[in-house]
Amino acid sequence: MNNEYLGKVYLVGAGPGDPNLLTIKAYNLLRQCTALVYDALVPQEVIDLVSKKCECFFVGKRRGHHSMSQESINLLLADLASSHSIVVRLKGGDPFLFGRGGEEATYLQSQSILVEIVPGITSGVAALAYFGIPLTHRLVGSSVTFVTGHEGIDKLRPSVNWRALAKATNTLVIYMGVHNIEYIVSELIEGGIDKNVSAAVIQQATVQGQRMLKTSLQHLASEVSKQDFISPSIVVIGTIIDFQVDECITTPANVTMPILF
Ligand SMILES: C[S@@+](CC[C@H](N)C(=O)[O-])C[C@H]1O[C@@H](n2cnc3c(N)ncnc32)[C@H](O)[C@@H]1O
Repeated sequence: MNNEYLGKVYLVGAGPGDPNLLTIKAYNLLRQCTALVYDALVPQEVIDLVSKKCECFFVGKRRGHHSMSQESINLLLADLASSHSIVVRLKGGDPFLFGRGGEEATYLQSQSILVEIVPGITSGVAALAYFGIPLTHRLVGSSVTFVTGHEGIDKLRPSVNWRALAKATNTLVIYMGVHNIEYIVSELIEGGIDKNVSAAVIQQATVQGQRMLKTSLQHLASEVSKQDFISPSIVVIGTIIDFQVDECITTPANVTMPILF
């Protein structure tokens, strides 16, 4: 253990936006930390939970602003761990699901910095729950796949095999998919999925602006564009959508979250 580092970095999931969905552990760490490094998909009301003496650093992507590189974020976390005993690295949803939490944990560990993961409720679970759509169902949903729709930017990463997924799972829950929706739909149909299967998009789940569109897969891309659905949104594809329990729709929290680009 390198004595240079006094503190521990907690990679904390902030949940999908509604502050009531923070875990008690996340809440307690936010109250105790003296350094906070946070991403874009966290409402101000959650940031405001920290004490007045906490140093706060925004490192996320926002419309019209450059985001900090992953390398710079890693260095910032290491630097803060040398002068703070509790550093909270706060990420939307769950830190280990499409949140680069794994990369940050590996880096911190390589520097002999103590690190702990605090899971959060991921948006792909909460978005469906707030609209009364079960994630699984004994009749139609024995499998569910969480997948990123944001592919092809970094060629070093494996790209998603949509054609294979078309028949491999009952329900697809797609993160970061709205910008790529035309391509995703055409690949799934090429892969043999029923083009009439139900599809939904849920934007800004659990916070102000929460809304959903439901359609069939073949009309999904045109409806996304017509109704101007933008990020952050979760795309759901599968018969499970037909099992929505309308009476279960949850009122979103009275907080706002930034729109991504
Ligand atoms: C970089 S990923 C982060 C996912 C996050 N770690 C999680 O577990 O929810 C960002 C994507 O998550 C989804 N997302 C996050 N918060 C959301 C929300 N409140 N409503 C809908 N989608 C959301 C969107 O697909 C967005 O583009």
